[in-house]
Amino acid sequence: MKVVVTRILPPETQALLEAQHFDLVQWQQDCVMPREELLKQVKGAEALICLLTDRIDTELLDAAGPQLKVIATMSVGYDHVDVDAVRARNIELGYTPDVLTDATADHTVLLTLAAARRMKEGMMAAEKGEWGAWRPTWLCGSQFTGKTLGIVGMGRIGEAVAHRLAPFGIRRIMYWGRQEKPDVEKRLPMAQFTGSLDTLLAESDFVIVCCALTPETRELFNYDAFNKMKDTAVFVNTARGGIVKQDDLVRALKEKKIAAAGLDVTTPEPLPPTDPLYKLPNCIILPHIASATFETRERMASMCVDNVIAASKGEPLPYKL
Ligand code: GLV
Repeated sequence: MKVVVTRILPPETQALLEAQHFDLVQWQQDCVMPREELLKQVKGAEALICLLTDRIDTELLDAAGPQLKVIATMSVGYDHVDVDAVRARNIELGYTPDVLTDATADHTVLLTLAAARRMKEGMMAAEKGEWGAWRPTWLCGSQFTGKTLGIVGMGRIGEAVAHRLAPFGIRRIMYWGRQEKPDVEKRLPMAQFTGSLDTLLAESDFVIVCCALTPETRELFNYDAFNKMKDTAVFVNTARGGIVKQDDLVRALKEKKIAAAGLDVTTPEPLPPTDPLYKLPNCIILPHIASATFETRERMASMCVDNVIAASKGEPLPYKL
């Protein structure tokens, strides 16, 4: 079976992959497999292991040919995949839910704390010799005690973030999304669903984006949305950059419509070093590394390989969308 893999995998999973009797074509560099190369190599493949940096669309499916039976993406998000086109060809789609929930939620908490407590400004001041005598109001930020947390998208990751932040003294958790989640409310009694995003924006001290990028959520966070938030609010996005209208975020941060932002995702990625977001002291940016722990990345990769092994035996995919 010809298997195309668009990147070298973490070491244990790479060994597992190489131990299979696949006709393996794998991009050997730690950078995106060039599109032209992928389109060329994917021809005749029965399985494709890809990343969120590979666009899976009709062009690619046509280039692969009708024998392609499984695509396993090493990600929980699948906005880079044209799911309808994949389904129309009866290709199975595997992904990696659950295993990255803890790592991503930890990282979201890190960004929330860092943005709320002005970590970038503090580090920059210390490094630049601007650390003067202790001052009562210097670099004061927001505390969690008694505050309201707003989660946009109470899926697995949103819930894990809420469970982690609640013990910091949060008084109320509001969440907004497609539907109310009674199971989540049983596990997290302080969580309340709101059918109105505007209410969440107006009442939350921390607004954390954990939803998928879909046509409904694309650029959901525009100037109007930031304008509805408290001017003391902290905004965090570890989901997808496309959920935010980035120029509007720059404007909102400059105009102090909100206090701070923490971003693990941007548009584009990588975000060029000249981007105005980097110039803002109240914006902390990390390079899409929320799931980047050794354990999680091995697990995500091994789920992809397990999906392909299952497909090679004609068995159902264990981690299927
Ligand atoms: C990361 O962003 C993922 O979707 O797994």
